[in-house]
Amino acid sequence: MPAFFVSIPVVRAKLYRPTDRNISFLARRLRQGEIVAVPTETVYGLAANALDSAACRKIFEAKGRPASDPLIVHLLSAAQLPVVCVPNSAAEKLAKAFWPGPLTLILPKRAAVPGIVTAGRHSVAVRVPRNRLFRRLLSRAKLPLAAPSANPFGYISPTTAQHVLANLGEKIPYILEGGASTIGLESTIVDIRDPSRPQLLRPGAVSLEDLEAVLRCRVKVLKRKLNSTKTGALAPGQLTRHYSPKTPIFTTRNLGPVKDPTVAYLFIQKPRRKCGKNEFWLDATGNLQRSAKALFATLRKIDESGFAAIYAELAKESDGFGLALNDRLTRAAAK
Ligand code: TXA
Ligand code: MG
Repeated sequence: MPAFFVSIPVVRAKLYRPTDRNISFLARRLRQGEIVAVPTETVYGLAANALDSAACRKIFEAKGRPASDPLIVHLLSAAQLPVVCVPNSAAEKLAKAFWPGPLTLILPKRAAVPGIVTAGRHSVAVRVPRNRLFRRLLSRAKLPLAAPSANPFGYISPTTAQHVLANLGEKIPYILEGGASTIGLESTIVDIRDPSRPQLLRPGAVSLEDLEAVLRCRVKVLKRKLNSTKTGALAPGQLTRHYSPKTPIFTTRNLGPVKDPTVAYLFIQKPRRKCGKNEFWLDATGNLQRSAKALFATLRKIDESGFAAIYAELAKESDGFGLALNDRLTRAAAK
């Protein structure tokens, strides 16, 4: 093919070191309606002014995200909740116990939040993040910031600025560098519109038991419908297929003998023997918190290594991290 037919990807995105000047600049760009990729303690997010529908539209375009999938609104503190939603007693308790941190609450929305953010719903997802740099940006921008994970729709979430650059570098202008996300899995999402009937929509670092202890009531776990990729039919955030590498991935409770050299085998804990080049693990000792942190970067690494398939071992669901890990693994494997 003649050289002029070869399309060369144009990387637009610039990485910004977290200096005071850069943070002020990015805050200004957010106020002017631009989108900025930001570090958070869970995963990197792609942020825009949550009160500006044109700015939020850019998020959907850059991610290739269907308009039916609503965004999370990030606030500097729980004191700003009444700007975007109608808080209740459950919100007060959970905010006090877990914010700033990896917990997202679903509450009735206020009119100030444009329909594009909530995909036309009457509810809105809100979170007060813990990451220091994201908080500095929120405080400079003086805005609620809508931010989904900064990955192309359906692909593995980014836990470093380099992941964002690799996937969205041609689609977005600015990335704030903030090292690796300390948690590495997306926030826990709990629907508390009815404070007496909370529902867990997505498991994360804040566990079901943590929520129940603070709310002093049972939290119902919303069961996903299996084998569905439809975007409209299910509750948002409940799409079965998500977080998927390009390599076909299969999960199992018991990862058997490592025989096929074309297959990557992903263990939770490093096997106690000499391992081959096609064997991977999330943590040397099988610690589930550290495994959760390593999951997305490890899946990316395997995905870039050209294996025909990935066989992944599921974690013991002995704590919240185990449940969250298995949620992401089974969703990555869903057809
Ligand atoms: O940790 C996180 O939550 C990261 C960081 C950037 O904060 N964000 C994140 O956003 O994971 P995203 O968009 O990838 O996932 C948010 C999920 C979506 O699946 C969305 O459907 C769900 O939250 N969601 C948003 N608004 C909702 C609503 N009103 N009702 C139910 N689910 C909602
Ligand atoms: Mg996401």
